[in-house]
Amino acid sequence: MTFSAYEDNMLLRLRDRRKKYEVITYDGNTLLRIREVAFMTIMSVINQKGGVGKTTTVLSIGARLAAKKKKVLLIDFDSSGNLTLACKGEGRGVCTAYEMMMKTCTAEDAVQNMPGGYDLIAANTDLAGAEGQITDAVGKIYRLRECLSEIKDKYDWIIIDTPPNLGYLTVNALIASTDVLIPSEPDFLSASGILDLVDSTIRSIKNYANSNLRILGIVFTKYTANTNNSKAMSVAIKSIAENYGIKIFKTVIRNNVAVKNSQSEQRDIFQFNANANAAKDYAALVDEIMREVKKNG
Ligand SMILES: Nc1ncnc2c1ncn2[C@@H]1O[C@H](COP(=O)(O)OP(=O)(O)O)[C@@H](O)[C@H]1O
Ligand SMILES: [Mg+2]
Repeated sequence: MTFSAYEDNMLLRLRDRRKKYEVITYDGNTLLRIREVAFMTIMSVINQKGGVGKTTTVLSIGARLAAKKKKVLLIDFDSSGNLTLACKGEGRGVCTAYEMMMKTCTAEDAVQNMPGGYDLIAANTDLAGAEGQITDAVGKIYRLRECLSEIKDKYDWIIIDTPPNLGYLTVNALIASTDVLIPSEPDFLSASGILDLVDSTIRSIKNYANSNLRILGIVFTKYTANTNNSKAMSVAIKSIAENYGIKIFKTVIRNNVAVKNSQSEQRDIFQFNANANAAKDYAALVDEIMREVKKNG
């Protein structure tokens, strides 16, 4: 092996890991000194049930991380385009996730700089057609990972909003990710949905396509502390999660009308009212997620 092949190999292996590194010295022989620069996280927010707060969670976490001076890219990977709408991105007449997946534009072309300090790759209904139109039968589930490889080093966090099913787009998102966050309402259907998700889809992605994928945990959304149902179901979900060794975040996102109101004004919860309960909860969740990511490297 030549030294340069050695170097390439080394960097390739490093690139596969979730930390970002910077080469400090390379003396032309075997010495390669590197410095860890930062953690890089690509987080899919998934749950096959609709209306559980995926889109709200992606936008709120993204806005909060950007306010903490992190470089953030949000990807709308749901053909309903809810995230694009919620943060007032351009859904038409620009390169979107669809064109990126079809390779008629690059990921970089599709990036929009948003006023909240984060970047967005938008989506519209065209995205639903991508699966049928990509002819590379094997490569197509790796397509998002391939698209992101050219831009991921620019970001500290890439957060992917996914559709309410475990189909092609969600599989692409999971293969491209280092981490998974599962928002869930504390109710029975959501609990059983999580079981299915972890047992089938995530397990097979880990087995066949992305062995490093980590389940960060489950976060309860739309939480109302006083109802017996919420309490009983939290207990039920906690016991399911324990069986699977999955963390339940201590922070819960309270049910808060400010979320809906902020979305009808197309602003994130922090721009709308940083004192709203949901804003405080999402701020606490970001702190808890950052601790978790750091702890596990
Ligand atoms: N914490 C919350 N309190 C009140 N309403 C919420 C909360 N989180 C989400 N919602 C509302 O619930 C609906 C579904 O949320 P959304 O984030 O779009 O879920 P998903 O992406 O999983 O379909 C939206 O109308 C949203 O405004
Ligand atoms: Mg959504």
